[in-house]
Amino acid sequence: MTSNYAHANFLKRYEKSLIEKAIDERAKAFSPISGSQVGAAVLVYDGKIFGGSNVEFARSQNIHAEWIAASDALKYTTAVLNWSGKNLKAKMRKGLEEIIAIAIVNKTGIPGCGLCRQMLYEINPDMQVLGVLPDRVVKVRATLRQLYPNAYRSNDGLKI
Ligand code: THU
Ligand code: ZN
Repeated sequence: MTSNYAHANFLKRYEKSLIEKAIDERAKAFSPISGSQVGAAVLVYDGKIFGGSNVEFARSQNIHAEWIAASDALKYTTAVLNWSGKNLKAKMRKGLEEIIAIAIVNKTGIPGCGLCRQMLYEINPDMQVLGVLPDRVVKVRATLRQLYPNAYRSNDGLKI
């Protein structure tokens, strides 16, 4: 697995674009119920960036910005998988680990709720996380391991 150090260095090259993408995504938030706008942008191994913004429906059925961004990134990193092939779990694991960093922009700069942190941890515990304020100030900079210690671990074979 790529080291934290490599992730942090890689992120430096793309950090500005990643934050800009998350800011743009936040402007697209659809939150008529809470009024709370969240934008997320995910960086993958080859420098591509995927974004998402929160969407709200009646009865609190909200889609978190992080889920959309991570979902698009996963579709990209796992696109090369041969789903009927051998070593599927190992390939899937690699596709997950190829997600390097996420920037999350909201009013508080606190990056992601507990559900999002669990999901991101299971994708890649060494992922770099930036919690960013709307004025682009990075309030939180941490890996998932730092942000979400003693994480719940699934036993589905894709476990960390
Ligand atoms: N929200 C996110 O998009 N990500 C989080 O991790 C926390 C919450 C959204 C959901 C809802 O639309 C609004 O923020 C208020 O909770
Ligand atoms: Zn969340």
